[in-house]
Amino acid sequence: MAILLPGGAGYIGSHTAVELLNQGKEIVIVDDFSNSKSEVLDKIKQITGKDFKFYELNYLDKESLEKVFEENDIEAVINFAGYKAVGESVKKPIEYYINNVSGALVLLDTMKKYGCKRFIFSSSATVYGERKEVEYTEEMKRGETTNPYGTTKAMIEKILEDIYTSDPEWSIGILRYFNPVGAHESGLIGENPQGIPNNLMPFIMKVANKELDHLNIFGNDYQETKDGTGARDFLHVVDLAIGHIKALEKLEQEKTGIYVYNLGTGNPYTVQEMVDTFQKVNHVVVPYQYTARRAGDLPIYYANSEKAKKELNWVATKTLEDMCKDSWNYVQKNSNK
Ligand code: UFG
Repeated sequence: MAILLPGGAGYIGSHTAVELLNQGKEIVIVDDFSNSKSEVLDKIKQITGKDFKFYELNYLDKESLEKVFEENDIEAVINFAGYKAVGESVKKPIEYYINNVSGALVLLDTMKKYGCKRFIFSSSATVYGERKEVEYTEEMKRGETTNPYGTTKAMIEKILEDIYTSDPEWSIGILRYFNPVGAHESGLIGENPQGIPNNLMPFIMKVANKELDHLNIFGNDYQETKDGTGARDFLHVVDLAIGHIKALEKLEQEKTGIYVYNLGTGNPYTVQEMVDTFQKVNHVVVPYQYTARRAGDLPIYYANSEKAKKELNWVATKTLEDMCKDSWNYVQKNSNK
């Protein structure tokens, strides 16, 4: 019996693969390396000392995906094969809807064909939309999404609800990630975006490494935050990966059902705190300047993480210092500079 990880060579997929292997689970990774590198597979093996099966394929290719189900006894699927760049999704909506929504449908249809009905989906806090509450709880209705990336997440959540209604033998976990950052403590795997990053931590990493000369802090006049810069619920990617293990255990225990969990620490940190902590714990300089607010950014929001604590026995244990240290350790071990 194996857990299938489409997109398992990517940032969150690779960290989850490590935790699953550490738990003694058998895994199968499929990836087309559209946003990841093949070396990651060796790194996962190096960290865990365990081997696994891998198929290079795009999960939209149903024929190849069926072969994976023919050749392996897949008991559950954790889908990491979604595209995830908000700005890019605005420019390439068709590609985002095809890859994320059609891809998920091909995957779910294939699962159905082979009688595999346990699925964990990487959703996002973005499905809460723009709202006046700043602490998000799972009972809140999904809001209006503001970009195609976010819309794909909301659409797939809805699709999963419809699948469960049609066939209550499914067991489905919807995990709403807040802001994952950091890297495995070995420094062997982490986040390595191509080109100029959009997200805060990868940007800080490139500035600290002198690949970019300074960071723009988008806005320092937010009334809603303690120092005027934006605030987010940053969580360590290893904590996030462990959240998947706990969700899988819950699905195994309950056998059937559809469960939604926020995965965040519940403690927002500001952009300023992030930059200050990064400089302090790593003894590096991150030059920055304040610029205008970024269009579409909310001042502050964070997870209410009580449900995951109560039902999954999951809490994020790593600190902001850990997130900053592990990110920098990864850069130092993987940079040619
Ligand atoms: N920021 C800067 N400068 C930068 C980049 C970001 O000041 O160069 C600030 C932003 O203004 C924001 C904070 O850092 O206040 C975090 O921004 P990110 O781009 O890292 O993350 P977002 O919160 O905007 O978006 C993230 C994910 C999305 C997801 C969203 C949902 O990138 O995939 O959280 O909560 F949809």
